[in-house]
Amino acid sequence: MPIDHTLQNAINQHINSEIYASYLYLSMSTYCESIDMPGFAHWMRIQSQEEYTHAMKLVSYLEDRDGRVTLLPINQPPVEFDSVEDVMRQTLAHEQHVSQLINDLYGVAVKANDYASQIMLQWFVSEQVEEEKTARDVIAALDMVKGRSDALLLLDREMGARPAASPIATGTPA
Ligand code: FEO
Repeated sequence: MPIDHTLQNAINQHINSEIYASYLYLSMSTYCESIDMPGFAHWMRIQSQEEYTHAMKLVSYLEDRDGRVTLLPINQPPVEFDSVEDVMRQTLAHEQHVSQLINDLYGVAVKANDYASQIMLQWFVSEQVEEEKTARDVIAALDMVKGRSDALLLLDREMGARPAASPIATGTPA
């Protein structure tokens, strides 16, 4: 069954949002590197790679549905931030924004009576719960170390231990 045009456009728009998230987190990573926080820089670099895999899941899905992928312009992300706390608070805010976008996209799939897309998007709904929780956990850890450079150094080391993102999936997300 050909994919509904409005839904296809909305998925293309969301591919752009995931790519922007990847770009934003890469910018945050380079900021963290610039203030000598290599662990946070590593963590944000992996976050950026994960966002890229999210975009690729949607690209593969549209291709599986015989749809047409349209790559849209990517906005420039912010370059400077105030601190690692600022980076993590902006990360949480951005994830909350993406959760809303996923909900809206799910709504478009419901309106189009497209059950396959709804099932595919359920993966993203669950992923957003995880992503918001992860960002909140790091903020809580930062709140605990506040003002103590030795503790911040240890937290930075811990952030540096984040394993690499899972490889880019092709075909329908599992
Ligand atoms: Fe793919 Fe964190 O939104």
